[in-house]
Amino acid sequence: MILAFDVYGTLIDPQGITTVLHDHLDGAAAADFAKAWRDKQLEYSFRRGLMGKYETFAVCTSQAFAYTCALFNLQLEAEESELIMNAYAFLPAYADARNGLEKVRDAGFRMYAFSNGSPEAVDRVLSHAGIVEYFIDIVSVDEVRSFKPDPAVYGHFLRRASASGNSAWLVSSNAFDILGALSAGIRAVWVKRKPDMLFDPWGMEPTLTVHDLDGLAQKLNDSI
Ligand code: LAC
Repeated sequence: MILAFDVYGTLIDPQGITTVLHDHLDGAAAADFAKAWRDKQLEYSFRRGLMGKYETFAVCTSQAFAYTCALFNLQLEAEESELIMNAYAFLPAYADARNGLEKVRDAGFRMYAFSNGSPEAVDRVLSHAGIVEYFIDIVSVDEVRSFKPDPAVYGHFLRRASASGNSAWLVSSNAFDILGALSAGIRAVWVKRKPDMLFDPWGMEPTLTVHDLDGLAQKLNDSI
């Protein structure tokens, strides 16, 4: 069985940037800024995908950062912005990532990282978090110059992993990614990290739901 792990939001925590933002914003505002930045980054990726105006995910991230600074009226020196953008390249993994991945690998699954991020960006962030070793390869949307949830990127994953919809699963915390995979005929495990996370009411449900990566191997084994 082949597993495609989403990266940002599933293995790597985009809210981890909050610690660096604390130099400029107080507690709640820093967390709100991080959330608004992440939402805008994804919105830019969706819009670029629809418009056929591809730029890398790093461009979506940095343009979303500029937008969010304006929104929060945060005026930064060039070096301060650079420091924050650099920190984004080395975001932390979620606490359960390493153990969870270890168990999944021990259970014999073939694991890929599958992300909107470029191969270099994903390799850097996973290496820094100490979890790159769990993956056979990194499959990036950059190779087809579009973004999740374009059906083309899920098709690209299947080709790259020499998999069929029947032999592959997506593992993601991002509901839009789960719907994208299901629509492309790939089963999908939703990592519902918090009880208040909502799934879009589109008439499709995740094939499986887990609360963290620790429980993933068991849940997959039980269902296969
Ligand atoms: C990723 C997104 C969804 O890593 O952030 O593909």
